[in-house]
Order: sequence, then structure tokens, then C-alpha cells
Amino acid sequence: MVSKKMQKVLNEQLNREYFSAYLYLSMSSYCSDIGLNGSAHWFFEQYKEEVEHGMKIYEYMLQRGVKIEFEQIDKPEGEFESILDVFEKSLAHEQFMTNNLNELSDLAMKDKDHATYNFLQWFVTEQVEEEATVSDIIAKIKLIGKDGNGLYMIDAELASRVEEQNSGGTE
Ligand code: FEO
Repeated sequence: MVSKKMQKVLNEQLNREYFSAYLYLSMSSYCSDIGLNGSAHWFFEQYKEEVEHGMKIYEYMLQRGVKIEFEQIDKPEGEFESILDVFEKSLAHEQFMTNNLNELSDLAMKDKDHATYNFLQWFVTEQVEEEATVSDIIAKIKLIGKDGNGLYMIDAELASRVEEQNSGGTE
């Protein structure tokens, strides 16, 4: 039995995953606007991953008989100062998501809800990877500074991101 409080926070997390998707789609469109198509592609893949995360929670809630209430999705930020600004905001958002998932895990542990705790650990592990990947990109952007050639190279590298398999969702 999933506690009432756990049901509520799972529903909130579902909304946050879809907000994340919306935010990354906004970041993708910004990158397209400034001509960084590789970065736009990278954020578009990120958008798809977040939709999968949402679906994973949606399916778990259905499995456990938790009532799903779709809430309004907030308007994401659409104006950024630079490519560095976009990735730094992406990292800050992922850190926010990590904190939320840790709080959900704490609650599952307190509830002795082992199934939900196990379910959430997939997300906790995923957050480690997401934060590390974005931190690495930020470090590279800082390293090249305002060098146009360097930025071009990073953008080309980001263009090669392939869709992750089994990153959650409908399986
Ligand atoms: Fe689903 Fe990037 O957190």
C-alpha cells in the first residue's frame, strides 16, 4: 500500500518530469535560434528522456493503484544569456530534481515501502549520470571560453548524442 503522502509526492514528481521535458524543449529551441544545432539536438534528446521518466512514474502509479492527477505544467524559461548559461541552468535544474528524488526516497524508507524505494533508486542512479554529463559539458565550454572554433567542435560533439535505450518508460 502506497501511503497518501507518498501518492501525493509521486504525483508531484510526475509533474516535475514533464516540466523538465518542457524546459529542455525550450532550451533546445533557444540553441536552434542561435545556430547551435548540435546543442539543440542534445537538448531534444534530453526532452525525450524526461518524457520517458514521466511515463515510468505514470506506469508505476497505475500498477500500484495510485490515482493520477494531471496538474498544470509551469511555463519554462525561454531566454538565456549564452550556451554556458543554458547548460548551467540545466545543471541547477538536475540538482533540484536530485534533491526531490532523495526526499521521495527518504519518505519511502520511512514508510517501509520497499517497492517504491526500489523503484526510486533507478531515478537516483540516473541523476548521478545526468549531473556528471552536464558538469562535463560545462567544464568544456568554460575551457574554450569565447573561442568560436572550440564552440563549433563542442557543438559537433553534442550533435552525436544518440537516443538512450532502456532509459525508462514503456518497457
Ligand atoms: Fe528526469 Fe533529468 O530528471
